[in-house]
Amino acid sequence: MSVITTERLRLRPLTDADTDWWVRLHADEEVNRFVGGYTQEQAAARLHEIQQQWDRRGHGLCAVELRSTGQVVGRCGLNWWEQFGETEIGWTFARAHWGRGYATEAARAVLAWGFGVLRLQQITAMIHHDNTASSAVAQRLGFTRLREDTVLGRPCTVHALARDEFSSP
Ligand SMILES: CC(C)(COP(=O)(O)OP(=O)(O)OC[C@H]1O[C@@H](n2cnc3c(N)ncnc32)[C@H](O)[C@@H]1OP(=O)(O)O)[C@@H](O)C(=O)NCCC(=O)NCCS
Repeated sequence: MSVITTERLRLRPLTDADTDWWVRLHADEEVNRFVGGYTQEQAAARLHEIQQQWDRRGHGLCAVELRSTGQVVGRCGLNWWEQFGETEIGWTFARAHWGRGYATEAARAVLAWGFGVLRLQQITAMIHHDNTASSAVAQRLGFTRLREDTVLGRPCTVHALARDEFSSP
């Protein structure tokens, strides 16, 4: 994948060059409540892992930009979890850009790519029980509850969507 475009958004693979922006995105208390914050070093390490995943598996997390201005407003993409043997979709947007449907729009395009091009059978979404905004995104996309689990020491509900349950945008 080089880029994915939707009506309002452009998704491109994240690289080391996004480290400063990644730190700023997660520094906001409302944004990091369920996903945690990052020091510069932690962000550099995470971005390095993301780049490796793109190289090794052909998928990873993307920066989401507004097509109208080129501004980076969030991140969305696929993450392979070795410990679960599952591919998860993630979505995190800067606070100023919530409530506009960007997360759902970006996620629909990522799911269409994951199911249609990568031919994945199932994609999960691991969401803390109290994260109502994220659970609402999952519900809008057709995800259903699969199991309770723990990810990075935090409890979560694992939601899942199968390829034949997904209606392409
Ligand atoms: C999770 C998160 C991405 C959800 O963001 P969001 O803006 O609520 O979700 P969407 O982008 O899908 O937007 C949906 C909202 O936009 C509204 N909206 C406005 N214009 C819209 C449009 N043109 N199209 C669609 N929806 C629109 C919808 O009505 C909905 O509002 P509501 O929540 O009041 O019902 C955001 O809360 C976030 O970044 N949280 C912090 C990080 C995090 O926890 N990530 C998830 C970890 S599991």
